[in-house]
Amino acid sequence: MGRGSDRREFLKRGAVAGVGLMVGRGAPADGAVPGAGRAGGDPSYAAGFAAAALERVRIGFVGVGLQGGSHVENFLRIPGVEIVAICDVDEPRAREVASWVTGADRPAPTLYTRGETDFKRLCERDDLDLVFNATPWRWHVPVCVEAMTAGKHTAVEVPAAYTVDGCWQLVETAEKTRRHCVMMENCCYGRREMMILRMVREGLLGELLHVEGAYIHDLRAIKFSDRNEGLWRLEHSISRNGNLYPTHGIGPVAQCLDINRGDRFETLVSMSSNARGLRLYAEKTLEAVDPRVRDYALGDMNTSLIRTANGRTVVLQHDTTSPRPYSRINLVQGTVGTVTGYPDRVHIEGQSEGHGWEELEAYRERFEHPLWEKLEREAEGAGHGGMDYLEDYRLIECLRAGSATDMDVYDAADWSVICALSETSVAEGSRPVEFPDFTRGAWKSRAPAAMGG
Ligand SMILES: NC(=O)c1ccc[n+]([C@@H]2O[C@H](COP(=O)([O-])OP(=O)(O)OC[C@H]3O[C@@H](n4cnc5c(N)ncnc54)[C@H](O)[C@@H]3O)[C@@H](O)[C@H]2O)c1
Repeated sequence: MGRGSDRREFLKRGAVAGVGLMVGRGAPADGAVPGAGRAGGDPSYAAGFAAAALERVRIGFVGVGLQGGSHVENFLRIPGVEIVAICDVDEPRAREVASWVTGADRPAPTLYTRGETDFKRLCERDDLDLVFNATPWRWHVPVCVEAMTAGKHTAVEVPAAYTVDGCWQLVETAEKTRRHCVMMENCCYGRREMMILRMVREGLLGELLHVEGAYIHDLRAIKFSDRNEGLWRLEHSISRNGNLYPTHGIGPVAQCLDINRGDRFETLVSMSSNARGLRLYAEKTLEAVDPRVRDYALGDMNTSLIRTANGRTVVLQHDTTSPRPYSRINLVQGTVGTVTGYPDRVHIEGQSEGHGWEELEAYRERFEHPLWEKLEREAEGAGHGGMDYLEDYRLIECLRAGSATDMDVYDAADWSVICALSETSVAEGSRPVEFPDFTRGAWKSRAPAAMGG
């Protein structure tokens, strides 16, 4: 289906439905009980799955819109990668991105453009190692499960899933097929985030007590646009109320806390403000008869509190519908000091003056992460300040080395499940909901993420 028909379909459904579309309402769309664990598990996989080393990594892309296309550009610059297939429902876009591959003097990738489930034909190929999934959210789980079942590793954009059941499907399929399922949380490779991780690991902040993260990004224009995310992101705001995009905020601070690797998220409570931003924006910018001039379920500011098994606390926020400058907050607080982003500042007891902040930059020479030291030049100009290049580089490096990936399916499930848990908590009066333990106890002894350093 092309973009035009996607758009018509949205308007039609929006006009008649008035309530939840395919994405469910309030509680998780699959009706699963948050906190419920599942039997089974594979301790040998959970200990840190590593597949056989690959000399080169042959990639099939599913979804080459803005973010998928940006990954293709990165992979054309990373040694040991071949892009052998591209699938997208938008054929002109698939052709455009394929032309970048041939333009780099590489063989033309095979195109799969026969509709929404044509990714199945791509997954059947026997000359693919990795299926890279940068589709809209509702396709994340179906494409990953199909790819792993067909014997391919998979990498998926964020969030990996937005229901509890979807998260379990990823974990169970990865364990059963013994394939990688990596969620591409690029913010874990941000220059500030990696520097903070190093500060934490070298003990500069003391014992960690509390972290804060967020996705505060005014997406109103994008949500009402006639292209790209405008074709699919708005529908999630119609019926869902919670944190729809938790992983940029939670990923980096979860790594500082060694979540799934010595600690784990245990309980979450969440509340949302009134929903005003989208309706006001629609009233200002659209004709009154446009079905998108309507009420939206998504509260403008959603705030969740999380407590970990080891007694640390997290504040996590989501706001994509307000006139507020961009921030992921990115605060890490310990017994000796605190570091935060937006703007980047640090306070270390005994080093910083009085109760004031110092600029984080003053610590760069001592704490720059080795991966940034190594790749700064190559990453220049790549997506999101270069961090996308580092995450793509590390994915390939791990697959070629036959090592565990920096982030694995448990991280993907645990960071993504906040979508569903926050929706449940908001819908049920901000009651505490429990995180499933996707690792089934292995979190106590799993090794910290390598992160190339
Ligand atoms: N990590 C980041 O910083 C970041 C930034 C932007 C987007 N994203 C994520 O990347 C994903 C894609 O976002 P985007 O901004 O590129 O959106 P987009 O709309 O630009 O791209 C999505 C692409 O998928 C295609 N598509 C839709 N259904 C498909 C199907 N069934 N099979 C094959 N192709 C299909 C569309 O035609 C489009 O080309 C989302 O999960 C989003 O959350 C992440």
